[in-house]
Amino acid sequence: MTQAPGEPKKLYIKTYGCQMNVYDSERMAEAMGAEGYVLTETVEEADLVLLNTCHIREKAAEKVYSDLGRLRPFKEAKPDLKIGVAGCVAQAEGAEILARMPLVDLVVGSQNYHRLPAMVKAAEAGEQPVDTEFPAEDKFDLLPERPVQARPTAFLTVQEGCDKFCAFCVVPYTRGAEISRPVARILSEAERLVAKGVREITLLGQNVNGYHGEGQGGAWGLGRLVRALARIDGLVRIRYTTSHPNDMADDLIEAHGAEPKLMPYLHLPVQSGSDRVLKAMNRKHTAEDYLRLIERIRAARPDIMLSSDFIAGFPGESDADHQASLDLIRSVGFGAAFSFKYSPRPGTPAANREGVPSEVADARLQELQALITSQQRAAQESMVGRSVGVLFEKPGRMAGQWGGKSDYLHAVHVSAEGIGPGTLARVRITAAGPNSLAGVLA
Ligand code: 5AD
Ligand code: SF4
Repeated sequence: MTQAPGEPKKLYIKTYGCQMNVYDSERMAEAMGAEGYVLTETVEEADLVLLNTCHIREKAAEKVYSDLGRLRPFKEAKPDLKIGVAGCVAQAEGAEILARMPLVDLVVGSQNYHRLPAMVKAAEAGEQPVDTEFPAEDKFDLLPERPVQARPTAFLTVQEGCDKFCAFCVVPYTRGAEISRPVARILSEAERLVAKGVREITLLGQNVNGYHGEGQGGAWGLGRLVRALARIDGLVRIRYTTSHPNDMADDLIEAHGAEPKLMPYLHLPVQSGSDRVLKAMNRKHTAEDYLRLIERIRAARPDIMLSSDFIAGFPGESDADHQASLDLIRSVGFGAAFSFKYSPRPGTPAANREGVPSEVADARLQELQALITSQQRAAQESMVGRSVGVLFEKPGRMAGQWGGKSDYLHAVHVSAEGIGPGTLARVRITAAGPNSLAGVLA
């Protein structure tokens, strides 16, 4: 199919993995928007397909290759179609992607999105550009300003990369060393978002509570940044993710007690409940450290909803270690949590260690998931009869129904007049389903 004259080119983006990728995909769409591209929901219509990929576990990385295979007939039908691989698989594998999948036209690493428009032009000229260098400049400074956002919630990346080097994790290699964006840039981006109608901002970073951006008088921690953001009129909710227990500074914990705009939900991955495994993972904290930290956070904000990540079957994990993870889950009581089967990642220290048999890891994963699910259900059910703040985002599936998120990040549905995107209301929860709550305006 040839393009009608004057018709804008169309961009299809598929995003894998974490919220940082969601944010990056939006910024890539904006960068290409400045070149005249508009977003499309279908590959058939697209002139440019971008896969914004995730390398965190093998399954995520392999999915990219099977999706690339599925793009082949589209490319055959429309030879002008350009296909780009972005994100962490691009960063980690670079030109190898072209060798394995020659239909790919460009490979852009996660730090180089400001160069995307030039790379697309090079691809159109018949080149196969690859850029996975860690540039000296900050990609965010060079990307165009964010245009109008029609949604009440937005992500804002404040920090990228990680220096923690957990033995299983590719992030320090794919996203590079920890960098924090300067305070002034974050505040002005937040102000612009709020001026366009955004009411809730989630601050993003691989290690977001390790934030130490340049601000007035020196480096600011995340607690101070949150308090400065909270002074923006019209911004009603602030969240942040993902955090490391060792970076949970006192002033951030205090902010949870003192700053009503900071929502009572915290994702704080612990990975394991066994000190032996935590040591082998290079986590640099014990299970007891984590439990004491949770006590301090709950002392500041008693109703806080906690969430975490766990890995099943890390190399060397014994049955007793696994039981220690279950014990930790029981003693904390999580509102939500995620568990993953250990996946050896090339280039990480743990990749060379002898693994736990796959069936054993599977069985442990199931046990973790069953316990987590039961805690999650109990947490959902404990909401029934309570009144909670809900920020509505979009119409629900049924006519007259609106969906939004509670202060504790539950999905909530309400059928009522007068609700629109961005309405913040008190809702009395009347019923709990496995994945969402129903309620009435209080
Ligand atoms: N195998 C399994 N899970 C992993 N995670 C990170 N790397 C691996 C890996 N190699 C999990 C951790 C992390 C979450 C984002 O993904 O639990 O917190
Ligand atoms: Fe990976 Fe998080 Fe550990 Fe950093 S702190 S290495 S991102 S698991």
